[in-house]
Amino acid sequence: MKALITGITGQDGYFLTQLLLSKGYEVYGVVRRNSARNLGTLQLLPEELRKEVGLLEGDVTDAAFVDRAVSQVKPDELYHLAAQSFVAYSFANPSSTYDINIGGTLNVVNAIRDSSPRTKLYFAGTSELFGKPEAVPQNESTPFRPRSPYGVSKLAGFWTVKVYREAYNVFASNGILFNHESEVRGPEFVTRKISLGVARIAKGSSEPLVLGNLSAVKDWGYAKDYVEGMWAMLQQEKPDDFVLGTGEAHTVREFATEAFRVAGIEIRWEGEGLNEVGVSGDGRVLVRVSKEFFRPLEADNFLADYSKARKVLGWRPKTSFKELVRIMVESDMKRGAKGAGVPRCPGGEVGHRPSGSQAGPQGKPRGHSRPPEALEAPIYGHQGLRRASGRVQACPVRKLRAPRVRGLPQGAGRDVGAEWEGVLPGEDKRRAEGRALLQGLPRPSPQRKGGYSGSTSRRGSSPIWRRR
Ligand code: NAP
Ligand code: GDD
Repeated sequence: MKALITGITGQDGYFLTQLLLSKGYEVYGVVRRNSARNLGTLQLLPEELRKEVGLLEGDVTDAAFVDRAVSQVKPDELYHLAAQSFVAYSFANPSSTYDINIGGTLNVVNAIRDSSPRTKLYFAGTSELFGKPEAVPQNESTPFRPRSPYGVSKLAGFWTVKVYREAYNVFASNGILFNHESEVRGPEFVTRKISLGVARIAKGSSEPLVLGNLSAVKDWGYAKDYVEGMWAMLQQEKPDDFVLGTGEAHTVREFATEAFRVAGIEIRWEGEGLNEVGVSGDGRVLVRVSKEFFRPLEADNFLADYSKARKVLGWRPKTSFKELVRIMVESDMKRGAKGAGVPRCPGGEVGHRPSGSQAGPQGKPRGHSRPPEALEAPIYGHQGLRRASGRVQACPVRKLRAPRVRGLPQGAGRDVGAEWEGVLPGEDKRRAEGRALLQGLPRPSPQRKGGYSGSTSRRGSSPIWRRR
């Protein structure tokens, strides 16, 4: 079985790749070029798994690329996870959010319809579709009332998938997934921001964690459980839409309280609104609230009714709320202990956001494309950031990335280098394989020496890259 994953470098891509490889799938993933040439969460996979993944370098907003990728790989299953997935960011960047989340999805369904109609599609829909829900809990029949540009874009994706299912008989299923988190969650999301902040404070930092709406209610599960549900949706006889969640809701405040508890710190909450603080037993203020992390509109009161998934897919969440928080906090505390838990700039200064800094409003990062929450993070696969004089600055994160291989680009595997025919100077072998696949070139080979020297002319007759 062959699977193609867009968004493979994100949180869900990390767990889905492992699940599919463990089931014997041939896995291909779309990776975007970025200036750091890193591979996001793929870099966190063990080397023996990482080298199994075929990489296709491109962007889902590029119809020609998506078309080529789908028609060449002809996957049995396509998991379309790629998205601008940060809700707060979508308020400041609605247009690019729509381009990626709507345009990208359209490119995927068109490519399947036109080039690989037997491919089964999973679309990453979201509980954000419910917005401020009319009913609690929410299931597949609850009306959608999105309350962010992100939610609107996902609603368009959801309906696009349904229309293609009915109009063209494409096997396309929508997951309506409630928040799912993990130790590889992006640092801008509140749960990871909290686990990182708690780890930092437990290591002795006196900077409080600064959050937004502590009363927001979410249904949080563990991402590893949810990718099993995605896979199960594509094993059904008919495409359909499914809610996945836990059926248990908590506030951001509760998540923070539990996270500090895992680190052995009991906190109590005092004050209200913007003046609310989380205080330790010895009177230290460990959590503050800032309006910069509030959104123009809040979607909350989420609670999943996943009874359809339980009945039809046999799916249920395996990880409890407390277990999830423990996994995340312990992971960040361990990373911190290894010196990689807190971003440091070359001079050794910590890259988290100082309290009272001049940060831009949430979703409106200044001077850098990452949102201000990223400042809290030990960042895998992203530029580390630090603030100086009220400006966000990038600082090198060499220590946080996977080890480099003899001067080759970040993310490169061991079997890389110009001695491979078909690998351009400075190119990672797996990227070269993906490029060869898309360009109809023969697969890079270790037997024949000498690179292409930049030539992209077609060699050999087979347009299909065969894996070993
Ligand atoms: P994530 O960590 O933010 O990952 C998003 C992925 O999309 C990354 O691999 C990113 O690549 C890729 N991407 C973004 N724009 C792209 C583009 N133009 N072309 C190609 N790739 C692009 O998100 P996640 O948490 O894994 O979520 C996966 C999907 O599920 C998303 O669609 C999200 O909206 C949806 N979802 C998530 C949750 C949740 O709680 N996690 C709940 C419901 C739905 P880079 O690494 O290059 O940025
Ligand atoms: N990010 C962030 N940072 N959120 C905060 C903060 C903060 O400092 N303080 C409070 N919050 C609140 C937000 O207002 C929101 O209500 C909640 O914490 C969760 O925010 P995020 O972790 O950013 O996630 P999200 O719920 O907006 O979106 C995630 O879940 C969706 C599913 O419902 C993303 O993964 C989306 O892609 C996904 O669709």
